[in-house]
Amino acid sequence: MKSKAGFQSALRTWYRRHARKLPWRDHPSLYKTVVSEFMLQQTQVTTVLPYFARWMAELPGFPALAAAPEARVLKLWEGLGYYSRARNLHRLAREIVARAAPPRNPEAWQELPGVGPYTAAAITSISFGAPAACVDGNVVRILARLTANGTEFRDSATAARAFAPLAQALLPTQRPGDHNQAMMEIGATVCLRQNPLCPECPVRSFCAAARRGNPGAYPRLAAKKIERRTVIRVWCERAGALLLHRTDDAARRLAGQHELPTAEQAGLAGSAIAHGSPLAKKRRSITRFQITESIYAATAPHGTPGPGLAWVPFAELDRLTLSGPHRRWIRELLAAKPPPQPALRPSLSRNDAA
Ligand code: ADE
Repeated sequence: MKSKAGFQSALRTWYRRHARKLPWRDHPSLYKTVVSEFMLQQTQVTTVLPYFARWMAELPGFPALAAAPEARVLKLWEGLGYYSRARNLHRLAREIVARAAPPRNPEAWQELPGVGPYTAAAITSISFGAPAACVDGNVVRILARLTANGTEFRDSATAARAFAPLAQALLPTQRPGDHNQAMMEIGATVCLRQNPLCPECPVRSFCAAARRGNPGAYPRLAAKKIERRTVIRVWCERAGALLLHRTDDAARRLAGQHELPTAEQAGLAGSAIAHGSPLAKKRRSITRFQITESIYAATAPHGTPGPGLAWVPFAELDRLTLSGPHRRWIRELLAAKPPPQPALRPSLSRNDAA
């Protein structure tokens, strides 16, 4: 690369002028930085913004978060997905308030729940000026293009490890947090995966891929093997209540979250249900799985519902922690029905943001 100091300075100048005004950058604090970094793991800025505002209004610091019941924390996280982040953030707050002072270096932060190398580097560089470079998919993309590195990487974690030394070498000792955030900002707003905005890029004169005119060719990541799955879900209603399944608290995904049960969870044979047309058919991707979920109206088996199942009155759906897609689906299905519980629908849609 031409000149490291020139690169750093071009980036810094651009960031001062073009950084988006984001609430965690306004009067930054360690708490705001930690909460925003947890929310921004796997989630885009625009999705995070309303959650961040609600969170700060209700849990304004580590002590408030540490003292909050877990159900409250999960409710505030509802719709953001990857709920282990919320539980880890809660545990982290409890560890922080139990200490005389929070740790200041990335290695110590990585000992805390839910903090990997990226988050540790982001938190400590932004809050304490620690010289730790952040490397995520965005940064990999920028560095692969700057160097026109055509290596095919097995996955994004392998690519991140490969580019970590270069990211670290480019980090200035002055305000490393701004440099890291500037890299994130370029990745999110200029060095886009598709159709990068090279004419607007402050570091294009350092970029080998821009010179070659093929930035879209980098980075090269091996194609993911997509696996298709189908799931039969049931909509069972009885006396103004809906049958829902609550995932066990110890589960890695969706712990404590309610969802429409699968036919199996409801104790119904999928083959007996899945004829005729479903009430709804939903497609979504979770990691490498492409999942088609068909929701059928069904009659629940008589007797006490099976493990994890509960009849939830429609009036109580709003208070419950539902997974984001399921809240949306239930709202859609209620809206499509002839009016059985008209008073309930507006409240159910109130805080649906998934
Ligand atoms: N993504 C991860 N951390 C971020 C931050 N601090 N600002 C913007 N986007 C981010």
